[in-house]
Amino acid sequence: MEATKLEARTFDRKPYYKDQRGFTLFQGDSLQLLAEMESEQFDMIFADPPYFLSNDGVTCKSGRMVSVNKGRWDKSKGVENNHAFNLQWLEQCQRLLKPNGTIWVSGTFHVVFSLGFAMQQLDYKILNDISWFKVNPPPNLSCRYFTHSTETVIWAAKNKDSRYTFNYKKMKEMNGGKQMKSLWHIMSPRKAEKKHGKHPTQKPIKLMNRIVLAASDPGDRILDPFCGSSTTGLAAVDQGRQFVGIDQSEEYLDLSIKRFEDLVAEGAEQE
Ligand SMILES: C[S@@+](CC[C@H](N)C(=O)[O-])C[C@H]1O[C@@H](n2cnc3c(N)ncnc32)[C@H](O)[C@@H]1O
Repeated sequence: MEATKLEARTFDRKPYYKDQRGFTLFQGDSLQLLAEMESEQFDMIFADPPYFLSNDGVTCKSGRMVSVNKGRWDKSKGVENNHAFNLQWLEQCQRLLKPNGTIWVSGTFHVVFSLGFAMQQLDYKILNDISWFKVNPPPNLSCRYFTHSTETVIWAAKNKDSRYTFNYKKMKEMNGGKQMKSLWHIMSPRKAEKKHGKHPTQKPIKLMNRIVLAASDPGDRILDPFCGSSTTGLAAVDQGRQFVGIDQSEEYLDLSIKRFEDLVAEGAEQE
């Protein structure tokens, strides 16, 4: 695909929240905010964009039939519009990555093919497709499909020339001395991770800790353009990285702040 030249404008937005420990949140539409940010400033990006699966179907939660709908932000606009959206934010993220930076992009089958194709169109260098195996998935109520139990996380470098960070030894150590494989068994978030409120697609802290430790170093700057309840931010700050998160929802940003302040309070108690 022919590269378009993306010019960064002056970024003068006021953060929704900023803490000196390196936790900054912006409220707004990522497509707009990303386009205004200065180029080549992040070492790592984690993105958990809309899945476009909120189609009025049903699923099972705690033994009860509930709607699959996550919110208006997750409604499909049709495959072509969804793909155009993915191309647009992924192009901006590529511009925002430092030359040796990497991006992790998470998705279910509703969106992951578009995400992967968009990344190929943009000449990201795909490094791995991690299968996050949700050890405890809800049963499939229709009994017309296998139980959905995985989510794919694509890991890619900015381009083929990137000399990216991979903390291979750390991953091996975390895997009992054996090379870590691309199949990760991790439970969905536990009750304790939702004590400040619920985000419908909250990621487990264990997944985010592993990602942060695998591909960044202390002091690195990490961006999450669809941060939700900021699980990425908690993992980042806990491991001594700097975090910038964007979400359009004040409700989710307020939840992020509660989770962050709780993490800080826990840390102070342990000192
Ligand atoms: C899949 S969720 C991310 C959940 C997050 N990983 C967590 O652990 O809580 C996607 C988030 O993107 C936000 N979002 C969707 N479209 C957006 C947009 N255009 N700009 C900014 N935020 C958006 C939604 O409000 C939602 O919180």
